Amino acid sequence: MTTAKEPALYGFRTAGSILAGRHALEQLPQRLHELGRFRRAAIVAQPSILRQGTVDRMMAKLREEGITSFCTTEVQQEPTVENIREVTDKISAERPDLIIGIGGGSVLDAAKLISVLLTDPVDLHTLIGIDRVARPGLPAVLIPTTSGTGSEVTPNAIVTVPEQELKVGIISRHLLPALVILDPVLTLSLPPQITAATGMDAFTHAFESLISNKANPLSDMFAMESIRLISRNLLSAYHDGGDLEARESMLLGSMYGGMALTAAGTAAVHALAYPLGGKFGIPHGVANSMLLPHVTAYNRDAIGGRLILAAQAMGLAGPNLTEEEAGDRVILTLREWTRQLGIPQDLRAYGVSDGDVDALTAAALQVTRLLANNPKAVDAEAVSALYRKLLP
Ligand SMILES: [Fe+2]
Repeated sequence: MTTAKEPALYGFRTAGSILAGRHALEQLPQRLHELGRFRRAAIVAQPSILRQGTVDRMMAKLREEGITSFCTTEVQQEPTVENIREVTDKISAERPDLIIGIGGGSVLDAAKLISVLLTDPVDLHTLIGIDRVARPGLPAVLIPTTSGTGSEVTPNAIVTVPEQELKVGIISRHLLPALVILDPVLTLSLPPQITAATGMDAFTHAFESLISNKANPLSDMFAMESIRLISRNLLSAYHDGGDLEARESMLLGSMYGGMALTAAGTAAVHALAYPLGGKFGIPHGVANSMLLPHVTAYNRDAIGGRLILAAQAMGLAGPNLTEEEAGDRVILTLREWTRQLGIPQDLRAYGVSDGDVDALTAAALQVTRLLANNPKAVDAEAVSALYRKLLP
């Protein structure tokens, strides 16, 4: 017998090809040969990666293989529609036949969008939503330098629409890259605060995928392994950025989180986090981390069995663990991580006040795509009560 929560069919798409491991970036030119013949690459890079010389080394290697390249670092953190359009126009003038994105989630999302805008220069607003991208973009190579969004393996890109104080999703199979390079060496220099916020974002992808109404055997496999890897390595990577083993596990955990969310979808934590980013500029991972223990406490009576799985993956389960004990342990551990990672538990730290709760609630209720995945129904009263937990 099936329950209402079990989808009849399930599956997911991901990147065309993945190369992972220490110093994997060195193999980029050889891997490009497997994808086709390229003449000119546009590199969309995080400014810090350019400063470290990584981009210069990559350009030299491409040149040896007969591929010229140029680099832009003009993608903003959490880019707007306008910013993506401006960067696309500049790149278009150089007539590339390949896009390489190297950086955090914002840069990777932008590279994905730019790749499709180069083959179909439409107004980005018309692509907002699911399956609105008409045709494939230029082949894209994505190289994450944070362990957070898992954007390198998802068909999603997030853009900010400032006039609506909103962050919205563009979801299309055409946003999936041809190649992903997962090189943990690139994440060694991430500062602790970014390690914490992005790591908690990755964890939230896996956790919400595990409890999502759309959870299925495929997403569960990636979600459980993501939770396992991140639970064992986040604090180590935060306290000792040079711990390459922890960094490698975090990067894999983040990619698995991206695969899990592609297969199952995130839920109320992400729905409530988006307005905090759009209206108050709270970093995405920080907003998720603040909300996760409270939303889990709200959901717990609907996800008992799943909390046992989460507790097992987090290494918190002894024999004969009850749903009640699993819920207590998981929520307590999430609270403890937030404290150890220096993530505030009061939205006032970001300029939010009690008077903002109604507007935040209205905005969160618009994120119906994700709220529909939440295992427990969420109404205005529940959403405002959750925001008020963070305004003690
Ligand atoms: Fe996220």
